[in-house]
Amino acid sequence: MPDYKAEIILGDCRDSLKKFPDESFDLIFTSPPYADSRRNTYGGIRPDEYVEWFAHRSLEFYRVLSHTGSFVLNIKEKVVNGERHTYVLELILAMRKQGWLWTEEYIWHKKNCHPGKWPNRFRDAWEKCIHFTKQRNFKMFQEAVMVPMGDWKENRLKNLGKNDIVRYDSQVGSGFGKNIANWANREMAYPSNVLHLATECGNKKHSASFPRALPEWFIKLFTQKGDRVLDPFVGSGTTCQVAQELRRHSVGIDILPEYVKLSRSNVKQGDLILLEERGKYGRSTVNRTNGVH
Ligand SMILES: C[S@@+](CC[C@H](N)C(=O)[O-])C[C@H]1O[C@@H](n2cnc3c(N)ncnc32)[C@H](O)[C@@H]1O
Repeated sequence: MPDYKAEIILGDCRDSLKKFPDESFDLIFTSPPYADSRRNTYGGIRPDEYVEWFAHRSLEFYRVLSHTGSFVLNIKEKVVNGERHTYVLELILAMRKQGWLWTEEYIWHKKNCHPGKWPNRFRDAWEKCIHFTKQRNFKMFQEAVMVPMGDWKENRLKNLGKNDIVRYDSQVGSGFGKNIANWANREMAYPSNVLHLATECGNKKHSASFPRALPEWFIKLFTQKGDRVLDPFVGSGTTCQVAQELRRHSVGIDILPEYVKLSRSNVKQGDLILLEERGKYGRSTVNRTNGVH
């Protein structure tokens, strides 16, 4: 049985990545430190300095990503002085100048976000996962994340109207057209770009860990067994842990020794007990909660 290695490195990802040759990874999946957040734990970068800070690192990410690879960035604009700051928008523009394609945006809908009251907005129930690539043709394995048809099969597809039967061009003008009738009697469909996931409540000893189902979905979508995954801001090691269980090699980097220690304890060393073989990943945790909406 091959060993799916998860290497956890202590350092600033900007420096630590220098030892890796060009195109070392098939997928970069990460949640970076958000501007000015978490000052008490691992510090934060001021919103006005965020783009420059990140751009130095995204240049290195570009170098180490395979030409058919994907970079998925989980990020959200912070509210500064009563309005959303523009650093994420500015970052996208800066990264396009570096050569990245702003290919897609996925929404992570946090199904169980905690209640609260604010005078000028509602509770924040979603974050972006911005998908960057180096070229239009990149590796994507859509069948790996198909979802049950669910309500569509039972209700809408049983009552098709004229427009549903006749093929017509899609509204985005892609030229592919859509014929909803094609989907009648099917059990599975392709998912939307909104992921309905609960945030995890388990104490992972990290203040900002994301749910395992988030990297799981993107790792399945953009890589195959034996591919190489990087999380340059790895925190508690969630990405590497899931990558290893899905039989991908991975590298995680964190600047804080306590998180490196935590990550190393969360990935499996030596003999692997592959959860997939025990059936845990027989069906995606996302698929179970993320039917066609
Ligand atoms: C949002 S957290 C990531 C949490 C992670 N997704 C998880 O599930 O645990 C961001 C992490 O980036 C680390 N970090 C901050 N600056 C860094 C840098 N320059 N290089 C590498 N890691 C850094 C922080 O210590 C923190 O653990």
